[in-house]
Amino acid sequence: MFLVPFFGKAYVKRDPENATNVKKKRIIQFLDHHVFLFCYFLVFLAMAMLSNNLPADFGNKEEMRSYTISNTLFEIDAKYAPMKLLGEGAYGVVCSSINRETSEKVAIKKIRNVFEDRIDALRTLREMKLLGKIKHENVIEMKDIMLPSTKRSFVDVYLVFELMDTDLERIIRSPQPLSDEQCQCFIFQLLRGLKYLHSANVIHRDLKPGNLLVNSDCELKIGDFGLARTKSPRGEGMNGYVVTRWYRAPELLVCSDSYDAAIDMWSVGCIFAAILGRKPLFPGTDSAHQLELILNTLGVNHDADDFDFVTYQPIRDYIDSLPDSPGVPFASMFPDANPLAVDLLKKLLVFNPAKRINATEALKHPYMAQLYDPLLDPAAKGPIDLGFDDDLGEDKIREMIWEETLCYRPGKAAL
Ligand SMILES: *[C@@H]1O[C@H](CO)[C@@H](O)[C@H](O)[C@H]1NC(C)=O
Ligand SMILES: [Mg+2]
Repeated sequence: MFLVPFFGKAYVKRDPENATNVKKKRIIQFLDHHVFLFCYFLVFLAMAMLSNNLPADFGNKEEMRSYTISNTLFEIDAKYAPMKLLGEGAYGVVCSSINRETSEKVAIKKIRNVFEDRIDALRTLREMKLLGKIKHENVIEMKDIMLPSTKRSFVDVYLVFELMDTDLERIIRSPQPLSDEQCQCFIFQLLRGLKYLHSANVIHRDLKPGNLLVNSDCELKIGDFGLARTKSPRGEGMNGYVVTRWYRAPELLVCSDSYDAAIDMWSVGCIFAAILGRKPLFPGTDSAHQLELILNTLGVNHDADDFDFVTYQPIRDYIDSLPDSPGVPFASMFPDANPLAVDLLKKLLVFNPAKRINATEALKHPYMAQLYDPLLDPAAKGPIDLGFDDDLGEDKIREMIWEETLCYRPGKAAL
């Protein structure tokens, strides 16, 4: 397209400027210009037909291609060749793909209709911003973001992640035996990632085996940051529905109005137990059943101050009505487990969040002794600030998502 005026100018320069020739020259120029334009149009049409994708607004779309995978349209950068569907959820669809330029395997997550719901849009923005700032070996790496349209009109967002072989949920459910070394290795990497995240003031809020991505060489990375939050320095209310029920900490079940990184540590305990027992430890069918399962296992001792933090009266009354009970010792639930593993598990699955072990202390536990080195497994340099509030309006969210993608594609700034 841009070649046309350039050629026109070149013509003028070559022609001698004399009055008698002006008319003739103009006609030639006119014809030349339009024949050229027409040829250019033909080439353009042929290219568009070849790529089977007549772009609605070029400039942005020319480098995109469309694919349909399991009834879902993927409009992605031409450099990604999609392969197969990996998973599907309420948020959208994930497919595996390969970057043709680098031969690197990636996972592309399509988040559709981002602005259908403001809270979902905020989740997407939060996940993008957090992963843009976090670089850690035990946290999934976000490599790219794509928007198949312009700033004003985009509705779908594509996040590109490094591709991992599988997740811990599938491993736990598989018949493949897991050794004590493998268990140690998984828990170590999970704690190592959490030491970093928590010291950066990030709470994941949805840790469960399905969100822990794993490679065949036992490498583990924490994924799915859609619910993750940065803790406000003042520790003010961070309510809202968090954590898949089976991995949800007691303080969330008893309607405590504040919580902190200890909720992730409870989830680590549940994940740990699921690795040891090859099934979920507390598969509650609703919140009340969840609390009941936890208290049945941990036991109830009214002389200890375990329940002091429970201020929501109906639940406090329910707990106060329970008789003292010894619970079930983890050593008898997991008779084949390494006694050190059982000891660490006990310190993770503590009802009162103030008495629960934190990530740094858990890494110092003897069960982690062979793997942990504080110099090689450091905390973050400082807290992460996402730089926005939850009361952002849709237009502002749209703008911030757009800005975030520009970090990955600087050339798009003008659109
Ligand atoms: C973890 O717990 C230990 C012992 O209670 C405490 O000294 C330390 O400050 C805690 N670390 C963090 C990051 O909260
Ligand atoms: Mg998930």
